Amino acid sequence: MTFDEDSPFLALRRTWQPVALATDLAPGQVIGRTLLEQDLVLARFEDGRLLAADTACPHKGARLANGAIVEGELMCPYHGWRFDSAGACQSIPSLVEPNPQKCALSHLKAYGAQERYGMIWVKLDPTGDHELPDVPEFEDARWAYRLGPPMRFEAGFRREIENYLDMTHFAFAHGETLGKCADPRIPDMKITVHEDGFQMDAPFPALETSHEQPGKLQSAHHRRQRCHLPNFTTIRQTFTDGDERVLVHIPSPVTRDSCDVFWSLAISPGFDGPPPKSQIDFAIRVLDEDRIMCESQIPSEVPINPGRGGWGVLVTPGDTLANQFQKSFRQWLQRELSAAETTTTSSAT
Ligand code: FES
Ligand SMILES: [Fe+2]
Repeated sequence: MTFDEDSPFLALRRTWQPVALATDLAPGQVIGRTLLEQDLVLARFEDGRLLAADTACPHKGARLANGAIVEGELMCPYHGWRFDSAGACQSIPSLVEPNPQKCALSHLKAYGAQERYGMIWVKLDPTGDHELPDVPEFEDARWAYRLGPPMRFEAGFRREIENYLDMTHFAFAHGETLGKCADPRIPDMKITVHEDGFQMDAPFPALETSHEQPGKLQSAHHRRQRCHLPNFTTIRQTFTDGDERVLVHIPSPVTRDSCDVFWSLAISPGFDGPPPKSQIDFAIRVLDEDRIMCESQIPSEVPINPGRGGWGVLVTPGDTLANQFQKSFRQWLQRELSAAETTTTSSAT
């Protein structure tokens, strides 16, 4: 199967992607977001039900994201058409008599929506059987679970994934935070391939010079990076005293050249180290340094087909994980697009 630059977005439509923090969408609130170049309205009704739909009103295309929930229905700001939480048109004020037929023709194009891990997730293509990866620590009340503020990267989502997997940029891109002491050579790592992605295990040496987070976070630890395709990657750090942190990054594609990085952190009970808020504040600074690097890369997204232009030369051991991601992602893409084709063919017969 050959890919073109549309292929990743076609496949990602079949997966759950985060579009907002749960706290951005209180009951009775309506907001707008863009996912995979699709402009969406997100609404949470007073009873808690979520609606994700195309934001263009079926009447004259006004943005429903600028509307409001009125008497339990989403109301368009332009001519007041109203929709229920399933997207069904319930009223057209300019009609003298209610007209069920016209309402039926005006159903919103609605998508799957769910809340998990403190985020709102949307799946644009209902034929995809993708499920969110389970991270028990994120839902274990004994762990301190904190969400970072999503950060917009003006770079393609695959650029961000490569960055999150990369272990040889710390001393350079993060010289101001992690410290120039970080070793740019990769530790001995073991890569295991899974059905839905891959995992990397490596021992991490202690940093010789302190960075701004004293003690625990610069001490020797075991690092496990688990990439659940297409774009859900966790890092688990296990310290020598048994304390742990689990972090996730999900670069949710907005356009081909931009993504919103959703991220969070779970800290094990009784963690002997900086308090959660300090860890989040520090991580924001580190992530901002990553953002600057990703936004500077040319081209802004990693080309889907291998080549020197965007993949890089890929000969250093430091690029092993990025290479593994691109390889696994292309295999995943092939499976997803074949499954999508099968679904389209069987529904056409
Ligand atoms: S454009 Fe929405 S009601 Fe007219
Ligand atoms: Fe980084």
